This record gives sequence, structure tokens and C-alpha cells, in this order.
Amino acid sequence: MTLSEFTTRTTDTDACGAFVAVAAFDDLLVDTPVRVDLENRPPIMVVRTDDGVFAVDDTCSHQDTSLSAGWVEGCAVECPLHEACFDLRTGAAMGPPATRPIATHAVQVVDGLVSIWVGGADAASDAA
Ligand code: FES
Repeated sequence: MTLSEFTTRTTDTDACGAFVAVAAFDDLLVDTPVRVDLENRPPIMVVRTDDGVFAVDDTCSHQDTSLSAGWVEGCAVECPLHEACFDLRTGAAMGPPATRPIATHAVQVVDGLVSIWVGGADAASDAA
């Protein structure tokens, strides 16, 4: 399965949520975010860094801009429109103009596959 096939796949998760494979670990380039479009869900940005693989909501909390078009440095992503930065570990807005956080998603890397938690936010916290 290619990276593009992973990142446009549909899901059959129920309300409880599940980990969904979105990419092969080796296909993720360091500090190069990828937008994952899952059916009936807001897009998610996945990025591999020197500190691990992170998944956060792809839409900037300031305006509707795709963060996967931005830049990743360390554990932060910078929005390409007005340059607000978000902490990839917590989703916290690190400075203006964004003031609200973005959601984070639990990530698993098993047997070379990167999976992200979708649905059931409370269960994701338990699974992380
Ligand atoms: S749209 Fe992201 S900082 Fe304005």
C-alpha cells in the first residue's frame, strides 16, 4: 500500500474508536507533515520527527488552514498562513494569532505501520 493509499483510506471505526493504519513508517520523511483524510472526519496531520511520530488535527485553530502545508521544527508545527505554532505533543497554541489548541491523536508504530487513534477521545487517552 502506498502512502497516498493510506492517507485517503476510509474507516469503519465505531463510536468507540480504533487505531487506523495511515502510513508505513519508512514512507514518512522526517519533519515532513502528511495530511490524512479519513471518511467523515476532519483531516489529521501526521509527522515523523526526531522525537517520534505525532498526529494532530490538520486544521489551524485560528482560521481554516491546513497545518500539513506548514513547517515542522522540533516538536512544533508552524501554520503557513499567519505563522502560529502548535506543540505537537499537546496541541497547545504556542503564540498568537492562534489562542486555542488543536486536538492530538494517539499514535502507534507496530511492525513498520503507523496507526492513529480516531474516534472515542476518552478511550484514546486510555490506550496511549
Ligand atoms: S490560519 Fe493559522 S495562524 Fe492564522
